[in-house]
Amino acid sequence: MSAAEAGTGLLVRRGVTLALALGIWFTPVPAGLTREAWHLFAIFASAIVSVILAAFPLLTAAMLAVAAVNTTVAALPRAVAWCADSRLWAAAADDRTRPVLVDELLRVLAPVPLLSRVAAAAATVGGCPVRPGDRLALVAKHAADEHRSDPDCVRPAPPHIAQLVFGVGTHACPGARLARAQVADTLRALAPYRPVVRRARADRRSALPGWAALVVTAGGPR
Ligand code: HEM
Repeated sequence: MSAAEAGTGLLVRRGVTLALALGIWFTPVPAGLTREAWHLFAIFASAIVSVILAAFPLLTAAMLAVAAVNTTVAALPRAVAWCADSRLWAAAADDRTRPVLVDELLRVLAPVPLLSRVAAAAATVGGCPVRPGDRLALVAKHAADEHRSDPDCVRPAPPHIAQLVFGVGTHACPGARLARAQVADTLRALAPYRPVVRRARADRRSALPGWAALVVTAGGPR
């Protein structure tokens, strides 16, 4: 195959991926889903297709796919299980408390528990001296006070603390709004059924926290 043909092939594959993403994105949102949930699906589906077609460097496609996996594996099922175990469905059903509950759940779940950094300059972090080039593993769970307080819709953590599970600075998560909307949607849809956890098994081999198996069933009157 000539270089020109290879270049054309790549363009076609990228075009197909982009067309799929835009096609889903601008298709009328199916009943029962919010616009944000539908857009997340567009990103996820096109990331998978781009890997299959080798349309983008693996890293680019993988980054988007991992972003979607953060939400679907490490956030959504764990938020549902926490709501069920702590009987938080009344707060999940209420339009006024749901956004606060979502922030609080994401804070304690910390779907991306560790952030890695390389120190650019000498500094002090939490009282420890850091030299340029030092590798740091920042524990998002602890930064967001997960180990000290459960989700609390009456006295939630201040936004600058809750935000820490999405990172800070120039590399803070650009998908945070989308992820919050996705969790809120899921809780709103499930709340009337008051689900309870029937079976749960943690996935101990996964890099992200998640369930290998989670079975929930409707638990109370609608
Ligand atoms: C609950 C779900 C999610 C969590 C907890 C999460 C968390 C994070 C965290 C902690 C970072 C690194 C921030 C840093 O290093 O300071 C990050 C980066 C990123 N996230 Fe998310 N994320 C989620 C969902 C998403 C979604 C749905 C998307 C895309 C639609 C997304 C796109 C990205 C991208 C592109 C980056 C890299 C940003 C950069 O390096 O400049 N994330 N995310």
